[in-house]
Amino acid sequence: MATPSKPTILVTGGAGYIGSHTALLLEQEGYDVILLDNMVYGHWDIIAPLLQAKIIKGDIGDRALLDFIFATQSIDAVIHFAAYAYVGESVAQPTKYYRNNVGGAINLLEAMLAASVKKIVFSSTCATYGVPDTTPITEEHPQNPINPYGASKLMVERILADTGAAFGLKSVIFRYFNAAGAHPSGLLGEDHHPETHLIPLVLQTALGSREAISIFGTDYPTQDGTCIRDYIHVVDLAEAHILGLKHLLQGKDSAVFNLSNGNGSSVQEVIEVSRQVTGLPIRVIECDRRPGDPPVLIGHSNKARVILGWRPRYPDLSDIISHAWAWHQRRHRPSDFSQMNLMRNPNLGEDERESLTCHPLT
Ligand code: UFG
Repeated sequence: MATPSKPTILVTGGAGYIGSHTALLLEQEGYDVILLDNMVYGHWDIIAPLLQAKIIKGDIGDRALLDFIFATQSIDAVIHFAAYAYVGESVAQPTKYYRNNVGGAINLLEAMLAASVKKIVFSSTCATYGVPDTTPITEEHPQNPINPYGASKLMVERILADTGAAFGLKSVIFRYFNAAGAHPSGLLGEDHHPETHLIPLVLQTALGSREAISIFGTDYPTQDGTCIRDYIHVVDLAEAHILGLKHLLQGKDSAVFNLSNGNGSSVQEVIEVSRQVTGLPIRVIECDRRPGDPPVLIGHSNKARVILGWRPRYPDLSDIISHAWAWHQRRHRPSDFSQMNLMRNPNLGEDERESLTCHPLT
């Protein structure tokens, strides 16, 4: 009897932080992956040694390229990460965000529909909620984004709903809270330029590449006066994407899910746990509030747990920071990092290969 062929998944933005973890997990779960990334914020050097995928350097704005990919590859579904994601930059350059995040998504959806590919997992954000009225935030909470980044993601959510009604396109939308951590192997992680996120900046301070970490606001109405966020491990996000994909491949209906741990950590707590994990002093500077930061963002994610069977594997902040620390140490030591090229070597040591294996999904 012929073995059934593996589903082929197009992953846009697959060389980015969450996209690369998802692409790796997809391959480990037996999917064929085609990865499309313009490499503006993605990292070829990180992903190429780790993946078997066909990696295409190209932009979702390029309709001819999309049509070519859909015409020549038998794609079953798309996981769409490709987007710009700097909140501050989106305020300064809104059209860049609307063109890429909204225009690019429309381009992708039209190419999908032209090729009769009607399943998509979309990477959205808790930034679509804006400043919450109630905590923890459920999927039913009103969506009133306060910056163009959040607005651009919300527009795509609405386009997906309308495209679903008009053409039968099925979507799973994930609204992430604060993505953090790194692959437990230490071979894959976060590398933004410029870096604006708290945990990488704290760890760069521990490594000595920054003098100190600035705490943006110590007078918030929270226990220690600093902002509270719901940090969720990037591997847990990746696992949710596989479950969302399976949901669609099983012919189930479109759905929207928050992805969060349901508990918050303050900026002070993140710094304290980072001191414990690294065993290093981390100097802080107390600064004014950063405009646009809500005091508390905590997500309610029971829907994903009940409908998808999602269970975050690494809910503890210390695991999230330990994995990020292993990654940052490796990324900042180029000689070690170049050894990642070994990953394509068939004589790769069992230990290194084993370290890349995520546990099977339950
Ligand atoms: N922070 C500092 N110092 C820094 C950097 C951050 O104190 O140098 C604080 C921020 O003020 C915030 C917390 O650390 O209170 C977390 O900040 P991040 O920049 O790491 O993350 P955000 O919560 O601002 O952003 C995240 C996602 C965005 C998403 C947003 C929704 O990264 O994609 O949540 O509010 F849009």
